[in-house]
Amino acid sequence: SRLADLRYTGYELKKGKYSLPGLPAFHGGEEWETLVIHLADSTCKASVKLYYGVLEDRDLITRAVQVVNEGSRPLRLRRCASLCLDFQRGDMDFITFNGCHAQERNLDRAPLRQGVQSVESVRGTSSHHHNPFVILCEHSANEDCGVCYGAMLVYSGSFLAAAERTQLENNRLLLGLNPYHFCWTLEPGQSFTAPEAALVCSPNGFGQMSRQFHRAIRENLIHDPCQGKRRPVLINNWEATEFDFDADKLVRIAQAAAPLGIELFVMDDGWFGVRNSDRSGLGDWSVNEKKLPGGLEALVPRIRELGMSFGIWIEPEMVSEDSDLYRAHPDWALGAPNRPFARGRNQLVLDFSRKEVRDHVYGAIKQVLGSTCISYVKWDMNRSLTDVWSAALPASRQGELFHRFVLGVYDILDRMCRDFPHILIEGCCGGGGRFDAGMLYYTPQIWCSDNPDAIDRLRIQYGTSFCYPISAMGAHVSAVPNQQTGRSVSVETRGVVAMAGTFGYEMDLNYTTQEERETIKKQVAFFKEHYDLIQRGDYYRLSDPFAAPFTAWEQVSPDRREALVSLVSHANHAAAPFRTLRLKGLDPEAQYRVNGGEVWPGDVLMTAGWPVPIPTGDYQSAQLYLRAE
Ligand code: DGJ
Repeated sequence: SRLADLRYTGYELKKGKYSLPGLPAFHGGEEWETLVIHLADSTCKASVKLYYGVLEDRDLITRAVQVVNEGSRPLRLRRCASLCLDFQRGDMDFITFNGCHAQERNLDRAPLRQGVQSVESVRGTSSHHHNPFVILCEHSANEDCGVCYGAMLVYSGSFLAAAERTQLENNRLLLGLNPYHFCWTLEPGQSFTAPEAALVCSPNGFGQMSRQFHRAIRENLIHDPCQGKRRPVLINNWEATEFDFDADKLVRIAQAAAPLGIELFVMDDGWFGVRNSDRSGLGDWSVNEKKLPGGLEALVPRIRELGMSFGIWIEPEMVSEDSDLYRAHPDWALGAPNRPFARGRNQLVLDFSRKEVRDHVYGAIKQVLGSTCISYVKWDMNRSLTDVWSAALPASRQGELFHRFVLGVYDILDRMCRDFPHILIEGCCGGGGRFDAGMLYYTPQIWCSDNPDAIDRLRIQYGTSFCYPISAMGAHVSAVPNQQTGRSVSVETRGVVAMAGTFGYEMDLNYTTQEERETIKKQVAFFKEHYDLIQRGDYYRLSDPFAAPFTAWEQVSPDRREALVSLVSHANHAAAPFRTLRLKGLDPEAQYRVNGGEVWPGDVLMTAGWPVPIPTGDYQSAQLYLRAE
């Protein structure tokens, strides 16, 4: 039967944080407390452990679930959510973060109606379309007041987030693995662990909730090889060259970047196998010597001579049909018997549920990473999972494949982090298609979107910031007119927007003017000087890019002695009203010197506000650096 009647049998309370085998999870020491609640169904002989991790300082509670088959017959799990939370009230709003490729994580807010409202992914990744982070809040909640609950799933595959307003006017929030195409067989004695969910409650609006998540993600989730050090300002060649490059072209891009203070050169897609377009080469992880004669051993020293470190792009989960790997192992790709493949970006997905596939791919990548001095990897993933069928699983167990695939991805990421602890991994999934806490555990930063247009990015980064910290959002200054929107925005404004993320460049700086290069040099120096404030400061959203004619945000140092305010205007009109921007998080008693000039009292900046300059051209920006006297 499908019945389950789980009854309480006991509990354990311990210091420290539980961990989950094969799954990413929050971690830490004695600042955590763990509660384990034991349940059992005496008929089907299943036992369940509910794990709760409490990090009181951050008001953060995590939850994970483990099911064990204690009986003598197989048990099939068809649904296993990570979080199920009942609220004694129905009048709440449900906030989700939705979009598509190049327009990820746009905020949507609506009051809950009776019935179930949900967002989900059935794509095998957390997806561009919905994010495994949602908020339930009071109708009146805003940035600074009102009760809100943020819930995230520490998982990178198909998920379901559902809020139900019940017939009794209560709310139930459910978050976990998507039950679509999920069926996991537990043989006697076997166990299944569902991914971790994490919950933050803020009585003071979204701003406080976000800051709690940011700090917990930075300090208790991400394994950052640069922890305590600065992450490098990078330049990536993708938008400048796509597949059309050779060693000299790459070196010329690096040569233009190094004198401006840029520290890391990243070689993107196209360096391996036969890869001159997206139709071939994936899976053949050895250097294409036609493009790079002498291989990485010849190229990397040329970059390092410029004083830059070297990074490389990979897409381990994929295979092109036109590749040696596919010709040798056609059954290593996911694909249903007797059906044609559904292709995405002309490529197939490797069956990462199979250890031999993972061992082969990782072996090849490990050889590349170990062959020379590499300090950064961009891990890309450019299509959804569609033909979800493994040649290695019996028909009755194909419902395990979506999740087994994700476990396989985590396995390789884990091996890479262990074998190359000095390498910074940046996640990417056709831009921001897998921007979730599961990936962040292994990849401290994730390319936020394939859309680097500074004005579109304001909305994308705004939505992303509700859960994820600035230091996690890959953001670059790219060339204008922008490839996607055709919009031209000054290099100053592009820099301000990219500084609301990890900060880097994605263009050939040989095609900039001397004046622009001077600006870039100053930007890089400014970013480095204020790195801690920008990347680790408390983050405040000062306006909503969907509502206001400008977007503004602020970072404040934990001791409130310093702040950086950034503002970008995106809709100019004649006879614009006089506006002030009220700053947040400052010390009301302190006197702040603004950009080395006038001194303003903290309480005035927070109550009366700073007069917003009336822009006289498109997409202008301003930054205010405040230092307490
Ligand atoms: C998609 C990524 O988002 C881009 O930045 C770039 O790496 C391409 N893939 C390369 O194929």
